[in-house]
Amino acid sequence: MFSHLDPQAPDSLLAVMAAFAADRDPMKVDLGVGVYRDSTGVTPVMAAVRTAERAMLDKQISKVYVGTGGNRPFAAFIEEMTLGVGHAVSGSGRVVTLQAPGGCGALRLASELMMRADPKTRVVVSDPTWPNHIPLIGGTGLSIDRYPYYDLASGTIRFEAMCGFLEQLPAGSVVLLHGSCHNPTGADLDRTQWQTLLALVEKRGLVPLFDLAYQGLGRGLDEDAYAVRLFAARLPELLIAVSCSKNFGLYRERVGALIAIAPNATEAGIVMSHLQGIARRMYSMPPDHGAAVVATIAADAALLGEWRAELEQMRQRVERLRGALRDALRATTGGGRFDFIAGQLGMFSLLGLPAAAVETLAKQHHIYMAPDSRINVAGLPEAQVGRVAAAIGSVLG
Ligand code: LMR
Repeated sequence: MFSHLDPQAPDSLLAVMAAFAADRDPMKVDLGVGVYRDSTGVTPVMAAVRTAERAMLDKQISKVYVGTGGNRPFAAFIEEMTLGVGHAVSGSGRVVTLQAPGGCGALRLASELMMRADPKTRVVVSDPTWPNHIPLIGGTGLSIDRYPYYDLASGTIRFEAMCGFLEQLPAGSVVLLHGSCHNPTGADLDRTQWQTLLALVEKRGLVPLFDLAYQGLGRGLDEDAYAVRLFAARLPELLIAVSCSKNFGLYRERVGALIAIAPNATEAGIVMSHLQGIARRMYSMPPDHGAAVVATIAADAALLGEWRAELEQMRQRVERLRGALRDALRATTGGGRFDFIAGQLGMFSLLGLPAAAVETLAKQHHIYMAPDSRINVAGLPEAQVGRVAAAIGSVLG
C-alpha cells in the first residue's frame, strides 16, 4: 500500500522551523513561524496560564470525555471575548460556538460545514494569505479563488481592486477575512474600509468567514475585534474561527473555537448539530487541557486581569520592535523603503525580498524567515535588531 505514495514537500513554514532548529550558530534568529518570543528568544508560558494549570492539577477529579461541543464555559468566554460583552446578537439564540482543536481545527470545521451546506460554495481568500488556508479549506473539495489584497511594491492594501473583485461574486460565496493582524502582510483595513466592505458583503449576499488568530496583538483585545463585531451586528450569517494559540500562548495545546451566527435560533441549532457531527467524524472530541486553562482564567477576575495585562505587554513590545526595526532599516538602507513595517499590525510584515535574498539571509546570516520574505516581528530579539537590519540591507539588489 505505502509504495503507491509519492513523497510530499513539507509545509513551507514548518520547513523553516526545521532549518532553524538544525542551525548551530549562537546568533541565529527565527523570524519564521508565527510565535511570540520574549527578548531572550523564549516563547513564555503566560503567568496566568501557569497559575491556572496549578489550580487545575489540584482540583481535577476526572479525565472523562468533554463531549463533541467541548468545554461550555470556555465556549461562553470565547463568545464574549470575540463579540464583546452585551453584543446585540448575544442572547438572541442565533450564536453557536464549538470548541475546536486550534484555529486550524475551527477553519476545517467551517469548511466541512460549507461543503455540507453546498458543495459548490465558492471560497475566496486574500492574495496573499496564510499558506495553510488553501489546503485546510481546499482539502474538503471546495473551490478557492484569490481576491486582490496587497500591493507589495507600495506596502498598501488594494482596497478598490478587492471590492471590485468581491462585487462580481455570486451570492452565497464565502469570503475569508483576517479579522486583524493580517497574515502574512500585517496590513489591516481601517474602520471606514471595514464599513464599506460590510455594505458590499450585505448587498451582494456574501458570507464572511473570519480568521481571528491574533486578537489582542494588533491594537488591543477589543480593537482587534472591531470588524467581527461590526459584521456580527448586521449580517444574517457569519463564521468566525478563533485561536487561543497566540493570545494565551497555548500553541501546543491546540485550543480554538468556531463561532457560527445563523439567521435565527432554529437554524443555529441545526448548524450546531452539523458541527458536532462533523467533529465526531474527524476527531470525535476536542482535547480538554487548553480550553480548561482558558475557562479557569476566565472564571477568576484576578487571573483574567493578569492575562489581559500580560497580553497587552506583549502587544506593546511588538509595536516597539516594529518601530526599532523601521529605524534600523532606515539607517542601514538610507531610505524609507521599509517604513511600512512600523505602521502595520500584529506579528507579521512582508519584506518583499526575492527568494535568493531570503536564502542568503538564512545561509550566510543565520536569519530565517518564510520563503515569501514574511517576517515574524515578534520573534526578533531587541539585541539583534541592528544586525538583522544590516543583513537585510546587505542582500538588497
Ligand atoms: C504562522 O503563520 O506562522 C502561524 O500561524 C503558525 C502556523 O501554523 O503556520
